[in-house]
Amino acid sequence: MVTTAGPARAMKVLNVTVNGIATGCAEGARVLDAVKSAGFRVPTLCFDERVGPKGTCRACLVEVEVDGRKQTVAACTWNAQEGMSVATHTQEVREYRQTLLELLLSETASPAGCPRCNSFGKCELHAACEEYGAKWDRFRPLKRREKADDPNPFIQRDYDYCIACYRCTNICNEWEQAAAITVDGRGQGSKVHSFFNNKLLESPCTFCGQCINTCPTGALTDRKVVWKTDAAKVKRTKTICPYCGVGCGIHLLSQDGQVAGVEPDFTAPSRGSLCVKGQFASWEFVRSEERLKYPLIRTGSVRERGPAPHSVGAHNGSSRTSGTADASSNAAGAVFRRATWDEALDLIASKFKAIMASDGPDAITCWASARAVNEANYLMQKFARVAVGTNNIDNCSRT
Ligand code: SF4
Ligand code: SF4
Ligand code: FES
Repeated sequence: MVTTAGPARAMKVLNVTVNGIATGCAEGARVLDAVKSAGFRVPTLCFDERVGPKGTCRACLVEVEVDGRKQTVAACTWNAQEGMSVATHTQEVREYRQTLLELLLSETASPAGCPRCNSFGKCELHAACEEYGAKWDRFRPLKRREKADDPNPFIQRDYDYCIACYRCTNICNEWEQAAAITVDGRGQGSKVHSFFNNKLLESPCTFCGQCINTCPTGALTDRKVVWKTDAAKVKRTKTICPYCGVGCGIHLLSQDGQVAGVEPDFTAPSRGSLCVKGQFASWEFVRSEERLKYPLIRTGSVRERGPAPHSVGAHNGSSRTSGTADASSNAAGAVFRRATWDEALDLIASKFKAIMASDGPDAITCWASARAVNEANYLMQKFARVAVGTNNIDNCSRT
């Protein structure tokens, strides 16, 4: 055992060998940590590092040997020890994993119809089955869990693909602390159930989407995307959620050049967490017919002038103003006309000047945004202090 003296406290480093490769891991680390640091991978169907090991699925089973004593243990729950040697892919361990995966498959619907595999990419369960040659029809099929009859607009709950790993209930209760879903029943009769009538809209669910994103199967998927995309054509682009100042990491899903959905970026500082806006709405407005595409200057209201030609149906998007129309109204009845950028900016400058002349510069407050780059925020405070002459400058992140 090696002891490294850090600036704050000494840390013991355990010498562990994985498949013959020496690796060091911190005292208290799991065998799974040693396996990963040595560059190997085992299926971890019930493991989400944000909530820690649960030991439910047993797919991560490995053979460990310490002082000549061999054991087969779950890598996620077992602690690494000094001098331990780990074997992750012996013939026996591989056969064990194959059988275990086939048992899990026997309680699910056919892999061919898996919603996640078809729309997003291979799910963890079916990727592992492919790797270990596990067959769906090896064992007599067990009675499947029932799909939830839940009309919520965000989460599709196809429990006939559920393997009872309970990552979803763990993430909901321990990480999100929303406590919207729980385990009902035991063994083969167990199922995921939401409080109050098994309808998520009637439960404490915040629609953060974490259950979808941790589920290793097609049991939980994003209803706005599933069956609308083709997994073979979906591309992922790493970016930042555009909604608020927190800036959570996301991957934008796109197909044929069109934005099609979102998945969280687990490598970002946000560690995969999103809110309902980030998960289900941060991409939709890109394609909205109601996007503002050019400056509009308000000229009055519908009540004052009567309906404008080509009025905008902002409430339902049913009658958009065309790009060449010169007037429109919004749902609140305000009437606008299309303007050039020069015209719009001149109008804004003249309004600022009028307010400053009549009420002084402190009548104006400027708000910067955490979603803008530092240079833009710097310019905003310069504009407030130098151009306007006020110290009323703040940032949306403080609100
Ligand atoms: S969306 Fe979030 S709050 Fe709702 S059940 Fe899933 S994890 Fe829980
Ligand atoms: S729904 Fe998904 S995450 Fe939840 S228990 Fe079933 S397989 Fe696991
Ligand atoms: S990942 Fe270790 S038991 Fe499931």
